[in-house]
Amino acid sequence: MSTNVRAYQGIHPDLADSVYVDESAVLVGDIKLDHDASIWPLVAARGDVNKICIGKRSNVQDGSILHVTRKSLANPDGHPLIIGDDVTIGHKAMLHGCKIGHRVLIGMGAILLDGAVVEDDVIVGAGSLVPPNKVLQSGFLYVGSPCKQARPLTEAERAFLPQSADNYVRLKNEYLVDLQQSS
Ligand SMILES: CC(C)(COP(=O)(O)OP(=O)(O)OC[C@H]1O[C@@H](n2cnc3c(N)ncnc32)[C@H](O)[C@@H]1OP(=O)(O)O)[C@@H](O)C(=O)NCCC(=O)NCCS
Repeated sequence: MSTNVRAYQGIHPDLADSVYVDESAVLVGDIKLDHDASIWPLVAARGDVNKICIGKRSNVQDGSILHVTRKSLANPDGHPLIIGDDVTIGHKAMLHGCKIGHRVLIGMGAILLDGAVVEDDVIVGAGSLVPPNKVLQSGFLYVGSPCKQARPLTEAERAFLPQSADNYVRLKNEYLVDLQQSS
């Protein structure tokens, strides 16, 4: 039977019971979704040649693509994709083998390449390109292609980061209620 959440070589996505995964999203293989995470329409996430972890209360918005790089002699860990807690991934982002800390906003259409590290409390502007292995320092806004540090985050922006995640937790709870009522 085909399903949108499926195993690859015997490893099935591991979903905490409070998560929301839209029925049009595709999750394959070694993917861990922690409590209250949400995956929105048309997301494609492939945990086949390495693992993907998505933290508590984080959301991956519509059309985003998540993939990883396999282990090799030159790179024994490969590049897993690790997303921390309270992270907002905007629509149509492309995340490949990178590491994202807690309370981060990845703008719509941003592209993050292998080995990139986004520290805690960062905003990556819409449409930005984060090159391989680049480290984005905690507390700053980055924009552009390739991205550059633009300025420190304001207090309001810092406060917005967990708020954005919380908005999506409340939204996915409404979607879960709709699903229960229609089943
Ligand atoms: C970067 C961002 C946070 C705005 O930051 P800001 O400092 O308030 O920016 P401003 O609107 O004051 O613009 C400042 C300059 O940055 C430019 N700019 C704004 N957003 C930009 C972006 N994403 N990439 C490149 N340049 C950008 C503006 O054109 C302006 O340039 P100028 O000074 O030459 O006129 C916002 O534009 C953004 O990208 N937010 C992401 C939203 C998102 O994708 N959310 C997820 C889905 S809900």
